[in-house]
Amino acid sequence: MSLNRPLREWAGKRVWITGASSGIGAAVARALLEQGARVAVSARSAPELERMVALHGDTVIALPLDVTDAAAADSALQRIVAAWGGIDLVLFCAGTHQPARAWEFDAGAARRLVDVNLNGVLNGLPPVVRQMLQQQSGAIGIVSSVAGYGGLPTALVYGATKAALINLAETLYLDLSPRGIGVFLVNPGFVKTPLTDRNQFHMPALIGVDEAAREILAGLARGRFEIHFPRRFTRWLKLLQLLPYRLYFALVRRGTGL
Ligand SMILES: NC(=O)c1ccc[n+]([C@@H]2O[C@H](COP(=O)([O-])OP(=O)(O)OC[C@H]3O[C@@H](n4cnc5c(N)ncnc54)[C@H](OP(=O)(O)O)[C@@H]3O)[C@@H](O)[C@H]2O)c1
Repeated sequence: MSLNRPLREWAGKRVWITGASSGIGAAVARALLEQGARVAVSARSAPELERMVALHGDTVIALPLDVTDAAAADSALQRIVAAWGGIDLVLFCAGTHQPARAWEFDAGAARRLVDVNLNGVLNGLPPVVRQMLQQQSGAIGIVSSVAGYGGLPTALVYGATKAALINLAETLYLDLSPRGIGVFLVNPGFVKTPLTDRNQFHMPALIGVDEAAREILAGLARGRFEIHFPRRFTRWLKLLQLLPYRLYFALVRRGTGL
C-alpha cells in the first residue's frame, strides 16, 4: 500500500518549486508543465525564471527569492495562494554543495551550506504547513540526497544538512500524513547538474536531469514516501547502511578511493 496518496493527475494542479532555475528543479518544473500543471518557480536567478514564463505564459509564476530569507518564502506562498487560490505540491529543491575534506573545514562555508540546504527548507515550511492544514490537502516534497544516508568523504557538511532533511521529512510524515497531507522524501544519487559539475571524482551511475525528473514524477505517482534513484546505485548505498561501521568505513574507502 502507498504511504502517500498517489499524485498523478497534474492538469491544473498548483505546484511551487524552489531551486527551479537549473538542474533537477528546472527539469521537474518542465515535466510538470508538460503535463498541464501550473508551476511557481523560485531561485535567485530571476532571468532564468522569467525565461520559463516567456515559454509557458501564465501557467508559470516567477518568484525570485533567496531561500535563506524567511520573509521572502512567506510572501512567495501568499502570492501563489492569491493567484491560484491554494497549493497542491511544494517541492523544496534549492540546495548548494561545497565539497570539503575535514582538513579544509571552514566555518563560514559550513554555515552557508546549513543556511541554504537546511534553513532554506525550514524557512518555507511553516507557511506551507499552515496553508495545507487550512486547506486540509496538499503535499510537500523535500529533496535531500543519498549523501544523507551516511558519512562520505568530500560531503563533510553537505551530507550533514541532507541527513537532517531526511530526519525532518520522516518526522513531518508522522505528523502530517494522518492529517491528509502528503510528505515525500527525494534522495537522488548522482545527477549531472551545475552542482555535481564541481565534483572531481568519478560519479557512479550518473544520470541526466530529465531522467531524474521522470523518476521523481514516477515516485509521486506511486505515492512512495522515499523516492530514491537510480536504484541500481541507491540500493547498494542502502545495503551499506546495514553493515557494522568497521565494514562500512572499509567499503566506503575502497569504493571512493578517498
Ligand atoms: N545533482 C545531484 O547529483 C544531486 C544529488 C542529490 C541531491 N541533489 C539535490 O538536488 C537539489 C538540486 O540540485 P541540482 O543538482 O539540480 O543543482 P543546481 O542545478 O545547482 O540547482 C540548485 C538550485 O538551487 C537554487 N539555489 C541555490 N541556492 C539558493 C538560494 N540561496 N536561494 C534560492 N535558490 C537557491 C539554484 O538557483 P540560483 O543559483 O539561481 O539561486 C538552483 O536553481 C539540491 O538540493 C541538491 O542538494 C542533487
